[in-house]
Amino acid sequence: ITVSSWTSTSRWPCGYNAMGFSQGGQFLRAVAQRCPSPPMKTLISIGGQQQGVYGLPRCPGESSVICDWIRKKLNSGAYTDVVQKHLVQAQYWHDPLNDDLYKKHSLFLADINQERVVNETYKKNLQMLDKFVMVKFLQDTVVDPVDTEWFGFLKTGQAKETETLQESVLYKEDRLGLAAMEAAGKLHFLATEGDHLQFTEKWFNENLLPYLR
Ligand SMILES: *[C@@H]1O[C@H](CO)[C@@H](O)[C@H](O)[C@H]1NC(C)=O
Repeated sequence: ITVSSWTSTSRWPCGYNAMGFSQGGQFLRAVAQRCPSPPMKTLISIGGQQQGVYGLPRCPGESSVICDWIRKKLNSGAYTDVVQKHLVQAQYWHDPLNDDLYKKHSLFLADINQERVVNETYKKNLQMLDKFVMVKFLQDTVVDPVDTEWFGFLKTGQAKETETLQESVLYKEDRLGLAAMEAAGKLHFLATEGDHLQFTEKWFNENLLPYLR
């Protein structure tokens, strides 16, 4: 997680821009939703898992029987209180086959994604962003499913087919204000070639730096 720059405006306190790498992407979004002062202006999520993960690094569950078996087994432990509180990855474990368990016991992700209740404060705070930029790595072998980097995920009740953010209930019911943000031109979806967090300085300078100016 890096806080990349402070922008000075005529009024004090100033706002700031934030850039989160990998899990830093979803953790900084929680900061935007929970801590509105000073205001975050631009949030850049680089390979972040905005809808969590259902899989292990380099173990693609949709194409490998053993990987699929492991992730199914993992679920039973992921939502126990002790694991939720002490294992950071469990904070964004999202099992589409056990939607009720996820909604009920995921302390972090289900909370910031408004799965239990719609917290109007979260919704209002997130919409204070000027820009929410999400970067997806097209050959990512670490994050499963990679759609989560653009806020998509697996469709509920199965573990093969994915849906985009725009196809999700979260978006259609606008539980987090993302549909309103997209209508206002605040959502930016970028894709780049390469595995997880693999990008060139040239790509960074051309594509991300302009958001930080
Ligand atoms: C909504 O979020 C705010 C900010 O984190 C928190 O203070 C409040 O208790 C939350 N309300 C509900 C209903 O969860």
